[in-house]
Amino acid sequence: MLELKDIRKTFHKGRERVVAVDGVSLTISEGEILGLVGESGCGKSTLSRIIMQLLTPDSGSVKLGNIDLTSLPRREIRRHRLDFQMIFQDPYASLNPRLTIFSALGETLQQRHPKLKGPALQDRVAGLLETVGLSPRHMRRYPHEFSGGQRQRIAIARALAPEPSLIIADEPVSALDVSIQSQILNLLRRLQSELHLTMLFISHDLSVIRYLADRIAVMNRGKIVESGDPEAIFESPREAYTRQLLAAVPRLPHEAATV
Ligand SMILES: Nc1ncnc2c1ncn2[C@@H]1O[C@H](COP(=O)(O)OP(=O)(O)OP(=O)(O)O)[C@@H](O)[C@H]1O
Ligand SMILES: [Mg+2]
Repeated sequence: MLELKDIRKTFHKGRERVVAVDGVSLTISEGEILGLVGESGCGKSTLSRIIMQLLTPDSGSVKLGNIDLTSLPRREIRRHRLDFQMIFQDPYASLNPRLTIFSALGETLQQRHPKLKGPALQDRVAGLLETVGLSPRHMRRYPHEFSGGQRQRIAIARALAPEPSLIIADEPVSALDVSIQSQILNLLRRLQSELHLTMLFISHDLSVIRYLADRIAVMNRGKIVESGDPEAIFESPREAYTRQLLAAVPRLPHEAATV
């Protein structure tokens, strides 16, 4: 479904050169959750911004289905932007504080279905809220009237609204309490099986990745150093870097994330 080929991106800070993404090739199949894990600064967010077409790579291609997004003109790229949706670490920063939940979700639904209005629009917003485990009765409230976990559910609902081909979740549970984390992870799992979501899930937390991902890609200094089945990587990491990552995290019992 998504295919990255030999993506490279270098940033220049004054005289310093930072190779943020250094020849990354990746594929994500339909209905799959790919977990991308690696230390802070290894290039995960840069890669996700390249997939979102928010950043142009120096070289390499991003293909969605049969379409090579890197060769499309600007206007065409904008048309495809709805196909990719993001969920960020801080839902409060990504929700407009002046829009009610109804307006925020309604607006996004209308980007995909411009003719959707009135009771039909309201029904769709209510349906989205139910999908993420929130009460439709609260749709006229503002983001600040919700808890952190509820706000992340709203952000997930907004990401689902345009029926995207791919969702990129960049550290979506890192700012939440552990108990709320597992609720959100369970929600994402349920959505994957019910809606057949395809997702790139970025995290520095291996226990979270292990719980959620169908496949893992380990990133270090702009490169994918190892990828494959989560259990296989956890049982016998091939790369020294992966072993270091595994050793560096306190080994939460895997079950802790399933509560
Ligand atoms: N706009 C930019 N200008 C200059 N350097 C940048 C820019 N964006 C990222 N970088 C650099 O590129 C490297 C990769 O950054 P990136 O944000 O992709 O890492 P990350 O893996 O997402 O880290 P984190 O886990 O902390 O979010 C870092 O060295 C960063 O300083
Ligand atoms: Mg990042």
